Amino acid sequence: MSDLYTQLVNNPIGKLVASNVGLPQPVKLDRWSPYASVVDGQALFGAAPGGRLLTAIAKVLAMVEVSTSTSLRTDLREACAAADLDAAVFNPEAPGEQRFKALVYDASGIKSSEQLAELRAFFGPSIRRVQPSGRVLVVGTPPENAGSPKEAAAQRALEGFVRSLGKELRYGATAQLVYVAPGAEDDITSTLRFLLAPKSAYVSGQVLRVTPAPDTPENPGALDWDLPLAGKVALVTGASRGIGAAIATVLARDGAHVVGLDVPALGDDLRDLMDELDGSAFELDITDVDAGEQLVTHLTAAHGGVDVVVHNAGITRDKTLGRMSADQWDLVIGINLTAEERLNDALLEAGTLRKGGRIVCVSSMNGIAGAAGQTNYATSKAGVIGMVEAMAPVVAKQGHTINAVAPGFIETAMTAAMPIGPREAGRRMNSVSQGGLPVDVAEAIAFFAKPVSGGLNGNVLRVCGQSLLGA
Ligand SMILES: NC(=O)c1ccc[n+]([C@@H]2O[C@H](COP(=O)([O-])OP(=O)(O)OC[C@H]3O[C@@H](n4cnc5c(N)ncnc54)[C@H](O)[C@@H]3O)[C@@H](O)[C@H]2O)c1
Repeated sequence: MSDLYTQLVNNPIGKLVASNVGLPQPVKLDRWSPYASVVDGQALFGAAPGGRLLTAIAKVLAMVEVSTSTSLRTDLREACAAADLDAAVFNPEAPGEQRFKALVYDASGIKSSEQLAELRAFFGPSIRRVQPSGRVLVVGTPPENAGSPKEAAAQRALEGFVRSLGKELRYGATAQLVYVAPGAEDDITSTLRFLLAPKSAYVSGQVLRVTPAPDTPENPGALDWDLPLAGKVALVTGASRGIGAAIATVLARDGAHVVGLDVPALGDDLRDLMDELDGSAFELDITDVDAGEQLVTHLTAAHGGVDVVVHNAGITRDKTLGRMSADQWDLVIGINLTAEERLNDALLEAGTLRKGGRIVCVSSMNGIAGAAGQTNYATSKAGVIGMVEAMAPVVAKQGHTINAVAPGFIETAMTAAMPIGPREAGRRMNSVSQGGLPVDVAEAIAFFAKPVSGGLNGNVLRVCGQSLLGA
């Protein structure tokens, strides 16, 4: 649906008025196109002294072929040389007009609160050089893997820094924190690529954890970044419309054979979309008592198994708790949570999810922040997060991963039907002052679905433009 306010403040008169009266000024965010580079501009690479991730980061910058600048510091120069990254010299204190599309900073060398001053020293002078839709990435050590309580506190402090920076950035620029566990240095490529690229347009103020990925043949280190899902079968529930249709489209773009699932009542729409995507349609109500068995039988017979499972189907039945019927409660929990648990159990028990499988669940920001009139919905979506966190170590034993994406305000038929007050509040109350698009959720799911994303397990990634709710 069109966002009239954003259109208005992006014409010259609207821009002037909005800026004079202090209204939010959403900009058109950079998004993926077949011709766009991962980073459409230059990168500035910095680090606190003693960082353990310098070479790993430099390798990613070299791989995405971004023109990079860094300081004259020996450790940074050595890391760039080791990664074959031809970095120019840049002094952020120097006056001048140089701008950057990305600031990438290795904070893993920060081992005490005193050393947090390194953050101000690097970002203070460079932050104003970030371009529209630019990216700030801070990479650190998970506090749980720190060598001392002081290092743990300093690394945990990075969350507050990044979340605040995300709120200070303007013009669609974003900030994220990536914690890289010891041993996962070589597993950061897909995460850094996604967070640097326009594919993460509506993600800001987020924290991702990368752990060592199991080294299986299904999870190769090198792959075709244009068709990362080539040869893979991806099931998407609720695929006939809205966010599910966008997920199916993006996974097909990435090379997957998509099996779109939806209720029989939406069978025509589902078949039309699957025809367009060269996918297959499977009509099923996921709350059927034998839904798991039906799905296992179908996926085994028609596709020999499945590699990616996206639990997107979901509903709302809003009412304040005192007015909510047992049916409204049961239906929402049944579709949004119980059905996902049952399908997972069936697919895992039967071995239908092939080795290196990826399960990605669609939660919701309201499952994190809560929302009046949505006790049933928020309970179900918080339960999805609980399921992901609890199942992560279980599925890891079988070489799979499970992660969740929690969308905020996404421009869909559902949000278009909201009354204007809550709709405008939902759209503007985030760091980029606009709603996200279904494709933004789909890109985050496609990121977790990649074979090379094996280092991401048990993460919950909000796609909410850093909503001010539930931050
Ligand atoms: N739109 C948003 O802003 C937003 C925000 C946060 C989370 N979400 C979540 O994203 C997901 C998709 O939302 P949407 O806005 O595209 O909704 P939508 O209503 O347009 O699509 C949901 C799909 O799920 C299918 N579905 C529902 N019950 C089913 C069942 N029993 N068996 C099989 N399929 C079933 C529907 O038929 C439909 O195609 C949902 O899980 C929703 O909770 C949406």
